[in-house]
Amino acid sequence: MKIAVVGTGHVGLVVGTGLAENGHYVKCMDIDEAKIAMLQAGEMPIYEPGLEELVVRNMEEERLKFTTALDEAVKDVLLIFICVGTPPLPDGGADTSQVFSVVDAIGKAIDGYRIVVNKSTCPVGSTEEIRDRLAESTSQSFDVVVNPEFLRQGSAVDDFMRPDRIVVGCDDVRVEEIMKELYAPFLRTGKPLLLMSIRSAEMAKYAVNAMLATRISFMNEMATLCEAYGADIGEVREGVAADSRIGPAYLFPGIGFGGSCLPKDVVACAKMAEARGLDTHIMKAVSAVNREQQQRFIETILAHYGERIKGKRIAVWGASFKPKTDDLRDGPALHVIDALLEAGAAITVYDPVADRNLAHVYGDRITVVPKNYAALQEADGLVITTEWNEFRRPDYERMGDLMREKVIFDGRNLYTASVLEKAGFRYFSVGRPSV
Ligand code: UDX
Repeated sequence: MKIAVVGTGHVGLVVGTGLAENGHYVKCMDIDEAKIAMLQAGEMPIYEPGLEELVVRNMEEERLKFTTALDEAVKDVLLIFICVGTPPLPDGGADTSQVFSVVDAIGKAIDGYRIVVNKSTCPVGSTEEIRDRLAESTSQSFDVVVNPEFLRQGSAVDDFMRPDRIVVGCDDVRVEEIMKELYAPFLRTGKPLLLMSIRSAEMAKYAVNAMLATRISFMNEMATLCEAYGADIGEVREGVAADSRIGPAYLFPGIGFGGSCLPKDVVACAKMAEARGLDTHIMKAVSAVNREQQQRFIETILAHYGERIKGKRIAVWGASFKPKTDDLRDGPALHVIDALLEAGAAITVYDPVADRNLAHVYGDRITVVPKNYAALQEADGLVITTEWNEFRRPDYERMGDLMREKVIFDGRNLYTASVLEKAGFRYFSVGRPSV
């Protein structure tokens, strides 16, 4: 099939590339000229494992093209995927303005029948608005479906190529058939394509992210209880995860969930309820626990140093909101770095891939180093904010030799307290006894 993908962010780029990899002809469009120029040159604007190889191969095989011209992208295609951002408005609701400006542009550009597939996460009811808005700007016939995307950054290619399920909200049987045909190669493992009403599909996306965030906040609250009663959240988690009714995923306590989806979707969910005069007790609590979790970690660090914090050099390992991505958006690391800078500490950060984004956010307010041990030189403490694999088994002796004060604040529970105690470190983690 011939397909246009509008928006080449994390979702659009992976979706377009994944579809091309399955043999479709895909034109990816973005208004960001610098980003498109990079992609045309075979360079990746984001770090996502496995993506570059697929992009380059599909470009070489001429199934994948990049353009800044929407008219050109939507010419002669059957499907147009909308994959633009819906960031939070100041009040927390979803800002759908990018979606609607794309819809207006599509309406002006199309010269025949098209199926518009919305992948951007929008409040329930938006797809119907998209349909109305499109009808205002074109006399061509079209259908609109919603097809939420569940890929995770860091494993996006794999998630898109081998999804747990595909959700399609659609009210036309012919379009349903086209969507089934499009996704058939992705579902060879027997995973389902779930057809449902447009509103249900829109809600399903929020429900998934809200549930994941709820599990994390729940475990973070349990971690606080563990600390108060001398229990170990790692052991408690094992007890919980082994219950087949619960399962092991998304039960890791830490310094709160971040990223461009979970935090904003939980708040947007609460806003949707508010718009109908309803109260979402759970969603509000999930966000509040997340904020408190980050704050509690920051306070542990500040309490350790007290007045001595001014002028201390603190090393930070990991800046992205999770491993295997260079995305800093709404990441707990940024909140920690901001708080420590404000308290007067000097910050040295090591992250395997986020240098470019760190420079963009902090300029010369922090020092960014290219190696993890380099960050520890003369450091008065180490803060671990992202659980990159390379941080899991460090050389404690080498660390201790480099550091001025042997103290670790581990926001991801990577180490065993007794081992660190033996190595002469003070060690703070989340929901476990400190040493
Ligand atoms: C999420 C959803 O998983 C995905 O389906 C949706 O399409 C986009 O949002 P993503 O933001 O890439 O994906 O990250 P995810 O792996 O879900 O992690 C989100 C946050 O939760 C990270 O900050 C992570 O560190 C945190 N997390 C995750 C925990 O604190 N504990 C866990 O057990 C799992």
